Amino acid sequence: MHYKLVSMGREHIPAIAALERACFSSPWSERTLEDVLYDDSACFIVAEGEDGSLLGYAGVHVVLDEGYMDNVAVREDCRRQGVAGALVDTLVRFGQAHLAFLTLEVRISNRPALDLYMKHGFEQVGRRRGYYEKPKEDAILMTLEFERGT
Ligand SMILES: CC(C)(COP(=O)(O)OP(=O)(O)OC[C@H]1O[C@@H](n2cnc3c(N)ncnc32)[C@H](O)[C@@H]1OP(=O)(O)O)[C@@H](O)C(=O)NCCC(=O)NCCS
Repeated sequence: MHYKLVSMGREHIPAIAALERACFSSPWSERTLEDVLYDDSACFIVAEGEDGSLLGYAGVHVVLDEGYMDNVAVREDCRRQGVAGALVDTLVRFGQAHLAFLTLEVRISNRPALDLYMKHGFEQVGRRRGYYEKPKEDAILMTLEFERGT
């Protein structure tokens, strides 16, 4: 599959919002995505197919040297082809360059995402009971720490 990773722009927002609705029970709205676009503490990237269509997206929010990885999502018909891996890899390389650690939450039943994050070096460091709604479910808290000065 051919795709390129580019910074999220205003033109991506309707497709990202549609992807959010397809993937999550509490999806981010176009308004929330617009806020992210103009938030200096956020860094979001998208995977674009050859025809310019959106295949997936991911991003982080940064506070000082701490990064929080927000949603990672890939279109259902484009999964298992390395798109999420490429998105996460880019954010991890950003973290290696600029951050002390990256952290994230994931539903305990979300095996694909848990495996994705573990493959990229994230470790389970905690569990937030009843963190998610629709359906109510525990979150696994995962962290990837970076060695400073490397
Ligand atoms: C999780 C998700 C982003 C993975 O996207 P993807 O593009 O299919 O993932 P990749 O092809 O890059 O796979 C990378 C790794 O993730 C893991 N993985 C991905 N899909 C998996 C699955 N169905 N079952 C188990 N592991 C899976 C594997 O470790 C895989 O490595 P491998 O191919 O060497 O086995 C995708 O399934 C998705 O969008 N799900 C819905 C949204 C979501 O739950 N996002 C996470 C929120 S925390």
